Amino acid sequence: MYEWTEEYSCKNEIVDKDHKKLFDLLNELLDAMKNRKSKDVLEKILLELSHYAAEHFTREEKLFMNTDYPNKEEHLKQHKDFTNKVYNLYLDYKMGRIALSIDIAIFVKDWLVNHIMKTDKEYVDYI
Ligand code: FEO
Repeated sequence: MYEWTEEYSCKNEIVDKDHKKLFDLLNELLDAMKNRKSKDVLEKILLELSHYAAEHFTREEKLFMNTDYPNKEEHLKQHKDFTNKVYNLYLDYKMGRIALSIDIAIFVKDWLVNHIMKTDKEYVDYI
């Protein structure tokens, strides 16, 4: 199981709460895979992860868009790429084109941690 820890804090209550929820959804996915839950359950969690990530990105972008934070465009691109990737994983799984494996959970975890630590933390002093 993956855990949000204080080192991931972006010094903003809304952002930290969203990031914790994304970790929770990732753990829910891992738990469902481990316990061999039905395809419907796994699809639902993947879709929720995709939707929640998109909602979080929108909230976060509102926080930094009207500031002098210089890396806005690249940040928006990373959000868009991740949202598309997770939604496409959901669609591919739903259509039976891929199987879910631990690699997918690891991809989501690595992306989240790298994005929070490298990209999100860049705007902290601007918001
Ligand atoms: Fe917290 Fe840029 O995502």
